[in-house]
Amino acid sequence: MKTITMQTRRTTYQMGIMEHGFLLHLYYGPRTEGSAENLLSYNDRGFSGNPYEVKEKREISMDYLPQEYSCYGNGDFRSPAFRMKDENGVFAADLRYLSSKRYEGKYMIPGLPAVYADTEEAYTVEVLLRDKATGVEVTLRYGVLPELDVITRSTEVWNNGKKKVYLDKVFSASLDFLTGDFDLLHFYGRHAMERNIERVPVSHGGLGFGSRRGASSHQHNPFVILAEKETTEKYGGCWGMSFLYSGNFWFEAEKDQFEQTRMQMGILPEMFEYPLAPGERFYSPEVAMAYTDEGLAKLSHIYHELIRRHVCRGKFRDIRRPVLINNWEATYFDFTGSQILDIARQAAELGVEMFVLDDGWFGKRDNEDAGLGDWAANEKKIGMSLSALSEKIHDMGMKFGLWIEPEMVNEDSELFRKHPDWAFRIPGRMPVMGRNQLTLDFSRKEVVDHIFEQISGNLEKARIEYIKMDMNRSINDVYTAVNGCQNFGEIMHRYVLGVYDFLERLTTRFPDLLVEGCCGGGGRFDAGMLYYTPQIWCSDDTDAIERIYIQNGTSFGYPISAVGSHVSAVPNHQTGRTVSLHTRAVVAMSGSFGYELDLNTLTEKEKEEVRGQIRAYKENWELLHEGRYYRLTDLCAHPDAAAWSFVSRDREEMLLNIVNINVHANAPVSYIRCMGLLPEKMYKVQETGKMFSGAALMTVGFPVPVVMGEYNAWQYHFICV
Ligand code: DGJ
Repeated sequence: MKTITMQTRRTTYQMGIMEHGFLLHLYYGPRTEGSAENLLSYNDRGFSGNPYEVKEKREISMDYLPQEYSCYGNGDFRSPAFRMKDENGVFAADLRYLSSKRYEGKYMIPGLPAVYADTEEAYTVEVLLRDKATGVEVTLRYGVLPELDVITRSTEVWNNGKKKVYLDKVFSASLDFLTGDFDLLHFYGRHAMERNIERVPVSHGGLGFGSRRGASSHQHNPFVILAEKETTEKYGGCWGMSFLYSGNFWFEAEKDQFEQTRMQMGILPEMFEYPLAPGERFYSPEVAMAYTDEGLAKLSHIYHELIRRHVCRGKFRDIRRPVLINNWEATYFDFTGSQILDIARQAAELGVEMFVLDDGWFGKRDNEDAGLGDWAANEKKIGMSLSALSEKIHDMGMKFGLWIEPEMVNEDSELFRKHPDWAFRIPGRMPVMGRNQLTLDFSRKEVVDHIFEQISGNLEKARIEYIKMDMNRSINDVYTAVNGCQNFGEIMHRYVLGVYDFLERLTTRFPDLLVEGCCGGGGRFDAGMLYYTPQIWCSDDTDAIERIYIQNGTSFGYPISAVGSHVSAVPNHQTGRTVSLHTRAVVAMSGSFGYELDLNTLTEKEKEEVRGQIRAYKENWELLHEGRYYRLTDLCAHPDAAAWSFVSRDREEMLLNIVNINVHANAPVSYIRCMGLLPEKMYKVQETGKMFSGAALMTVGFPVPVVMGEYNAWQYHFICV
């Protein structure tokens, strides 16, 4: 059997071309040499049909042989990666191998985010398949980053036939496993409680989840891990899939009748039916896959490095982001220019580097009911122009940032009165409202153009170094008022392309701008967004204790630098919980750090503490963002203490963070077993002067102080002596 093999430093990926051009998946795992074709076992299986050409050989069936890119119609009855129908509604496809090629460098995808790399850092493999009956050609693209052990996948479909077809399902990546008993780790949630981790067995009948909300969603994150049963943070095999896409998606994992597992991901197939006329092409978004046999921590390190160096772009990719103060939880909509300046002045005095003016600065925006769409500053409310406000803030020695929500419109706005057809609404139906706003149809270029011009006008007039780009509702009533296109899947995909177009234009026209993504917190926290915005507001929940869980889940697939995280007021506005300023800062520092309260309300002692926190963040920034991040406690097991650490690349330095989240009378001591240290070295704790050996810290652990009361935090800096 002819094979196509891709090698990374520690992994091998192989497919095989069977007689008659069937493309089989042979292997994805630890690096190896040679052909894996003898792993296949051919057996006559009842009710598993055979391709016409080989009908005498009843042991050949696509229904149980591992497929590289399964399609519906060739006898495989498992959930396919590809499904299409013709103009008469007939579902059929039979993709056979035509050719393949390999070239240096990493492919990119028109209009979509993609992993990028220098020519010498990556190579691309393309495999061309063809459906003879329709002439539809499918190119499977693989981007291989050998040093990182990452392989990306994306699919191009070209209608090289004479008749229109409808793409019913075009997944971006699919993996078949011949054998094995796996767990799936996935990250579910809700608004203000995103990315909780759940580890469940992959079973017969399988599981499927995703988003049909228009954004990748708070509810299910497009990052998943398939792990061997025995896999832990430290040991074991695991495969990751991260979807670089910020819209509707779907993930499936299923064990089939012969105990084989299929795992796959792509754009939501439900209501997709993407029309493809002769000559037209469709590009699927990209999935970044990684495998390691060294456990979950290692898999996270691969994704952290991938996203930091090969997904995030721009000036702020590698440099420290400014410590910011955001006025949202300090004022909500209720502020004047002079209140804003009071908050900013105090923040500047304590060392904060950037002031971010959140929602409420434009149009008639005094509450959620009006103003979205009218991106001109409300000078009456602010008491001055935006540029005057920005200058005053710059005079305090701070940068200035602004909140926007470009994809939305209120019915009570000039924009809606002028262009009611620009909002998604279905004729004859009352639209479903979300936060009293409607979604603008970003699948239409003229809509994106208009909003872009309005927003960039502000950026040209005033000195603005940062934008927080928000999106605050799930999308409903999908209907485009022009172009005759009423296909849900097509509009929703074009909508996401419109959002990416907006972001691409914004970051190109203003290359020094730092853009932070946001979707009611972390409702669009995905690797696609991170291509345009190197950080994302992680959650609308700023409670430090809840944030431990949210940030812990987020860390599996995303780097710490991507996590927008702020110290807010107590009692916390989302939970009513009160925890110390120290604990709030320890948690918020494990991210792109800032404050979200009026610092004037603090006591003098607390203000001094804030000064110290900002100093500490600046001192530790490199370790926090460039160091290796380790989850040291399994939060699903409800430990009494949560702990995580950052270890320098040379392993000689560690910042250990601990928060006790439960207390008991006469309690046993909790020991935190560290990871990633040099076993033979001694480490000195800077805060206490105590010495520990690396081996002891990793096998016995660090004793958590036994104290009265919960929610205490400790941050210890260990340095090799
Ligand atoms: C939701 C965001 O997540 C908040 O931080 C804040 O910006 C509000 N929107 C403003 O409307």
